[in-house]
Amino acid sequence: MGAAPNMSVTVGGLTLSNPVLAASGTFGYGREYAPHLDLAALGGLVTKGVSLQPRAGNAPPRIRETACGMLNAIGLANVGLEVFLRDKLPFLAGLRQKGLAVVVNLYAESVAEFAELAGRLAGAAGEGVSALEVNVSCPNVKGGGMAFGVDPRAVAEVTAAVAGAAGALPVWVKLTPNVADPAPMARAALENGASAVSLINTLLGMAIDARARRPRLANLYGGLSGPAVKPVGLRMVHQVARAIPGAHIVGLGGIMSGEDAAEYLLAGARAVQVGTASFVDPGACARIAGELTEFCRQQGVADVNELVGGLINS
Ligand SMILES: Cc1cc2nc3c(=O)[nH]c(=O)nc-3n(C[C@H](O)[C@H](O)[C@H](O)COP(=O)(O)O)c2cc1C
Repeated sequence: MGAAPNMSVTVGGLTLSNPVLAASGTFGYGREYAPHLDLAALGGLVTKGVSLQPRAGNAPPRIRETACGMLNAIGLANVGLEVFLRDKLPFLAGLRQKGLAVVVNLYAESVAEFAELAGRLAGAAGEGVSALEVNVSCPNVKGGGMAFGVDPRAVAEVTAAVAGAAGALPVWVKLTPNVADPAPMARAALENGASAVSLINTLLGMAIDARARRPRLANLYGGLSGPAVKPVGLRMVHQVARAIPGAHIVGLGGIMSGEDAAEYLLAGARAVQVGTASFVDPGACARIAGELTEFCRQQGVADVNELVGGLINS
C-alpha cells in the first residue's frame, strides 16, 4: 500500500481538503444531511440558492424521475436572506471552522438585487461564508435565472456587480448548459471578476403523461439532472478548459461515483460538485470523496491535481 495521495486542491480562490463539494439545491443548508454522513469528509458544500426575499417556488408537482435522471422545477424555493443569516449561517460557520468550504449560491432577478445580496453576505463573511456562487442559469424561473446566463454581456454585468460588492469573497459563476458553447459565458465571467465558473446547471426538459395528455410538471418545463447529463457536463467543461487556458472550473452534472469525478478532473475541472446522487444515497458526497481517493491510490496518482486537465489537449 503506497502513501495516501494528496487530495487537496486550490480552486476559485479557495483551498479545499479534497475536490468534492455538495451541489446547490440538493444538500439543503448542510445540517439536513448531518445525520447521514460525516460532513467533514467533504471538501465543501454549496447552499440552496438564497434570494433577498423568501420564495415559495413553483406549484407542485415539481419533481419527476426520468430515465437515468430527474426533472425539477422547484423555482428556487428558499428561506430568504434574513432567515438564512439568522438560522442557517451559524451551523455553516461551524462547518467552516472544521475546514469545509461554505459556498453560498445566490439567486436574484436583477443586477441590483444580485449586488445587494453579495454585499450583505460579504458583511457576514467572517461568520461562515467562504465564497459566493452566482446562479445565472436556473431554467425554472421567469425573471433572472437563465435569462442572464445565455447572454455574455449580461453575465459580464452581473459578475462585475457581484464581484464589486463581494469585497474579498471569491465569486464563482454557475453557467447553463442551455447554450451551444459555454466558453463565451465563462470568458465573460472570468474577465469580470469571477474566480471560477461552475458548470453545468440543469438542462431544460419536459415530461408528458400521454394517457392524461398532460405535462407531468405544473411548471411545464423543468431542469434535467443526474447520470443522463454527465456526457453534456464533461463536454462543456472540456470546451471551457480548452478555450480558456488556466480557467478555474468546478465541474458537475451526473456525478455518481469517484470515477465520474475523476472524469470531470481529466476534462479540466479542478473540483467537482455532487447533486442528484445525494437524493439516491444521502451519503453520496462522502462516499464519492472516498472513492476518488481510492481511485488515485489504485491508479498510482500521488496528487489528485495530476488528473486536472489531463485531456484538455485531446
Ligand atoms: C432539486 C434541485 C434543486 C436545485 N437547485 C439549485 C439552486 O438553487 N441553484 C443552483 O445553482 N443550482 C441548483 N440545482 C442544480 C444543481 O446544483 C446541479 O447543477 C445539477 O443538478 C446538475 O448536477 P447533478 O446531475 O449532479 O444533479 C438544483 C438541482 C436540483 C436537482
